[in-house]
Amino acid sequence: MKIQIERTQNPRPKKNSSELGFGQFFSDHMFVSEYDSKQGWHSARIIPYQNLSIDPAASVLHYGQALFEGMKAFYQTNGEMVLFRPEFNAERFREGAKRLCMEAPPVEDFIQAVAELVRVDHDWIPSEKGCSLYIRPTLIGHEGFLGVRPSNKYMFYVILSPVGAYYKEGQKPIKIWVEEQDLRAAPGGLGAVKAGANYAASLQAALKAKQKGYAQVLWLDSEREFVEEVGTMNVFFVFKNEIVTPELSGTILPGGTRQCALQLLKDWKLPIVERKIKISEVIAALEKGELLEAFGTGTAAIISPIGELNYKNKNYDVSNQKTGPLADRLYKEITGIQYGEIPDRHHWIKKISV
Ligand SMILES: Cc1ncc(COP(=O)(O)O)c(C=O)c1O
Repeated sequence: MKIQIERTQNPRPKKNSSELGFGQFFSDHMFVSEYDSKQGWHSARIIPYQNLSIDPAASVLHYGQALFEGMKAFYQTNGEMVLFRPEFNAERFREGAKRLCMEAPPVEDFIQAVAELVRVDHDWIPSEKGCSLYIRPTLIGHEGFLGVRPSNKYMFYVILSPVGAYYKEGQKPIKIWVEEQDLRAAPGGLGAVKAGANYAASLQAALKAKQKGYAQVLWLDSEREFVEEVGTMNVFFVFKNEIVTPELSGTILPGGTRQCALQLLKDWKLPIVERKIKISEVIAALEKGELLEAFGTGTAAIISPIGELNYKNKNYDVSNQKTGPLADRLYKEITGIQYGEIPDRHHWIKKISV
């Protein structure tokens, strides 16, 4: 793919890593390419970060034809600039596009777009450990029409945001509200893909949880019986005799960090299983002192220990509100590989030359 590059004349001021937070600031440039049925994907370009101009009747604005990805670039300890598992995100993007009847760029073009944009804005990658450049590839249907059918025009764009730690609490365990009213995803719906619509469905419960003092919600299935995900993360429970993560049921996002955690737990010969887990099983284990740890996995926070669960208005402490040893070990191993301090045995790292 040929990419035209127009560099900004007005570079933005950069922030100190302590001010970054998550997704508040954006780099100087963005990647954009467009698709229509006659020309296919065309006009690939890197341009100064700017507003989009789309038809007010664009399908994304009315019927939610929108899909995104979340991935990261790092400076490793030896100064090498790298991406973490870009093929995984490119392939998940194509799967998501298929479900939403959208056209997605080929895997090689997705990776080239991301790598080239990161190269152009490499001085936006924060160098402190714990910080990274978050990458947000996005696909929208932007044909202007008001019939309900898939758009014939798509825009693929990528923006970059330097980020610090995801939670204000840092790696400290988070408080979780078990949500029994709202549903993130239903069987046959969009739960297994990163459709913007899933996040719209999740806002009300997340807001309610926040107002009650909880950082995220634990989502249950449509019968409110089985555990699905925690906020925007997959969830793992460390029981006395086994480690369990919900099996991919079609309503759960197949997370990249989940896949890494499964691989590492298998490498360490620990008893990890993917199966259905009832919320009643989690609560019974908590009551018997047999739930040793629980944590979420996701690109933004990597591993997020759970310190407290509220179910039916009763609070349960998890791991005495401390980060458990397995959450800590997984966090250190994954970030160690990302920052080049631990050998990349599974080829998760892709180097980008300056
Ligand atoms: C709903 C949801 N579940 C799980 C995850 C974790 O996926 P990944 O590990 O690929 O970031 C995410 C994204 O971060 C998400 O939005």
